[in-house]
Amino acid sequence: MAIPYQITSLEQYHRDYKKSVEDPEGFWSNIASQFLWKKKWDNVLSWNFKEPNVKWFAGGKLNITENCLDRHIANLGDSPAIIWEPNDPNEATRTLTYSDLLFKVKQFSNVLKNNGVKKGDRVCIYMGMVPELAIAVLACARLGAIHSVVFGGFSAQSISDRLQDAQARFVITCDGAFRGNKEIPLKSVIDDALERCPFVERVIVLTRTKTPVSMIRNRDVWWEDEIRKVEQQGNPDFPAEEMDAEDMLFILYTSGSTGKPKGVVHTCAGYMVYTNYTFVNVFQYKPGNIHFCTADIGWITGHSYIVYGPLSAGATSLMFEGIPTWPDAGRFWDIVDKYKVNILYTAPTAIRSLMSYGTEPVLSRDLSSLKVLGTVGEPINEEAWHWYDEFVGKKKCPVVDTWWQTETAGIMISNLAGVTPSKPSFATLPLPGVQPALIDEKGKEIQGNGVSGNLCLKFPWPGMLRTTYGDHERCRLNYFATYDDLYFTGDGCLRDENGYYRITGRVDDVLNVSGHRIGTAEVENAINMHSGVVESAVVGYPHDIKGQGIYAYVICGQEPEDVELMRKDISSTVARIIGAIAKPDKIQFVRGLPKTRSGKIMRRILRKIAEGEMKNIGDTTTLLDPAVVEDIKNGKV
Ligand code: WT7
Repeated sequence: MAIPYQITSLEQYHRDYKKSVEDPEGFWSNIASQFLWKKKWDNVLSWNFKEPNVKWFAGGKLNITENCLDRHIANLGDSPAIIWEPNDPNEATRTLTYSDLLFKVKQFSNVLKNNGVKKGDRVCIYMGMVPELAIAVLACARLGAIHSVVFGGFSAQSISDRLQDAQARFVITCDGAFRGNKEIPLKSVIDDALERCPFVERVIVLTRTKTPVSMIRNRDVWWEDEIRKVEQQGNPDFPAEEMDAEDMLFILYTSGSTGKPKGVVHTCAGYMVYTNYTFVNVFQYKPGNIHFCTADIGWITGHSYIVYGPLSAGATSLMFEGIPTWPDAGRFWDIVDKYKVNILYTAPTAIRSLMSYGTEPVLSRDLSSLKVLGTVGEPINEEAWHWYDEFVGKKKCPVVDTWWQTETAGIMISNLAGVTPSKPSFATLPLPGVQPALIDEKGKEIQGNGVSGNLCLKFPWPGMLRTTYGDHERCRLNYFATYDDLYFTGDGCLRDENGYYRITGRVDDVLNVSGHRIGTAEVENAINMHSGVVESAVVGYPHDIKGQGIYAYVICGQEPEDVELMRKDISSTVARIIGAIAKPDKIQFVRGLPKTRSGKIMRRILRKIAEGEMKNIGDTTTLLDPAVVEDIKNGKV
């Protein structure tokens, strides 16, 4: 069955792009009409970027799970929706057909209902990569509850911040998670988080690792027991809740340059249309293809390209519990071989890490099933691009470099596999519906090619964020206040002579560490929680595998007696406050920080020194105390 809105030639790309700009409403309503609606929309789009206020398909009624599950049953009921590869390659794999998945989603929707979850309630999900995570997400969506998935690497403190912000009364978790040779005690982290969240009424706990956990009476229940109750009720049907197009589908927290992470809000219809459209076009999905996205569902990539995008297209989505390097660095390739994966979507940091093991692991596996390779999360360096193209794709698989963000819901700038040209380290061209603009320091749009500036978007697309949960003003200030009538991405970007875009990295104080977004202010706040620390400043520096590493300059109250121990204590503090992913790679103790007379830290200087650039530091005469720069340069890490 051909997908009617799939772009299959370069000419069609240009035609569709043109149409999407000249008649966005006609363009998107044509795509949206392919879905299952309980009631058609009244109005395709209304918008302004001032407030901002963006509505797509207003008046339309639908449920995204009917589009991801129910509507496929007639044709695809017996075909696999989710294939699950466990962390331990010797453990049995699991396959859920579309019929199985729908059954389980209905069953768990009943569990949620029995436990008091209602439409509009926020449900926090903190689980490992097991099929039940996808089931929990979809069951929330079926019932109309708003899911907020928190990545399993975040600390108790981070979870309680998110629970409080979302006022979530429900948590779904696992006893523990397997990741490589580690066992992560998820439930015990939740217990710590809940000490600060007395408003949480119910915790549903799935058994995965058989790690001993505490189960608190009247609060904690086992997933398995709750399923048994639904079975005893005779597995009642669970019709999908009728949702407004603009009802919230989920909240996903992400870091910004200031303060605590913000809850990016996506809504039902626009998110569905956009993730589906981008999935089938960028990866050139063909019915029957096995799609393997290596992200965790705790990040937006997993939401959009493990769960909603592939399932809305009737694809087979491969879900992997483990990590690329365990039991050895051939694990991804074993999986590709074992399941005959057609589309592989991963991050540059994973590619660089696997490159460091040489070509033996990749050359010793049969990767001939692969058709399309994708990358996401950070700029990909040419060396990694070529390695991926040559050793993984054997120069026969188009590589798509997909630029997007948590806030955009889906891919925004990317080549379309085999349809539009690729260029190493370039995301290349905007998808239909995406109108990029490069802006100079004065806020003026830069026209023409062979130019660079700050990347903005001029026009709404169905997947764009609608607000930041509980604080609309924060959304406006963060994304819509830097430049009038533009959405500001936070990225710097170059447009070459041919009009191809290359994302050069963040221009704000946000780091991208192994494809994970981390705010420098957040890390500084965590470091400053250490009782021996007076002040700190955090910057990024180029890191061979992670893309960016975290470099912290720290002023202590007293000179540490044991410098190495102090470094470890600071790292543990950061792991406790944010999570292990935010631990600094380097900590340098300093006696002062380069500050202007008004007290502003000159990060530009710190960044240069962290990069090892000692000569062209730039002007230091405006500093309160230029001598600190010399001290820092001479200091040791
Ligand atoms: C930031 C968004 C998009 C899902 C994963 C990360 C950077 C993302 C690319 C790319 C260069 C990229 C940007 C962006 N980024 N993809 N293909 N080339 N940079 O989502 O955590 O919301 O981070 O990741 O800096 O703003 P996120």
